[in-house]
Amino acid sequence: MNHCKGKIAKLLVDYFRNDFRRITHALEVLKYAEQIMENTRGYDYDIVIAAALLHDVGIKPSEEILGYNNGKTQEKYGPPVAEELLKSIDFPREKITKVSEIIGNHHSPSRYDYVELKILKEADRIVNKLEGD
Ligand SMILES: [Fe+2]
Repeated sequence: MNHCKGKIAKLLVDYFRNDFRRITHALEVLKYAEQIMENTRGYDYDIVIAAALLHDVGIKPSEEILGYNNGKTQEKYGPPVAEELLKSIDFPREKITKVSEIIGNHHSPSRYDYVELKILKEADRIVNKLEGD
């Protein structure tokens, strides 16, 4: 998809507004996902970019609705938000499904044998470690 990274980066920033911590985290995960892609084969670039930038969008509704967030609630609330955001930029339907599955599985044992899921989990793990989570 043309300019996929810029379009999704705008979605991310518009969605998290002044929550700079979340925006920075997503950009860091994107950076490591891009590094991992250099030594990986068989991935879909647009799916990795979308999953990296939007993987934590479930945090916002989780905190608004429940007053807290954790891995499970992120997996529950993230996919519908990501789907809506990606639809708004005409991201391909079949790719939206996969991104949604990845976001809904990024904090638990993998239910999908997707290389893009592996890349996201590894990038998120590195960044969470660096952030001292
Ligand atoms: Fe994350």
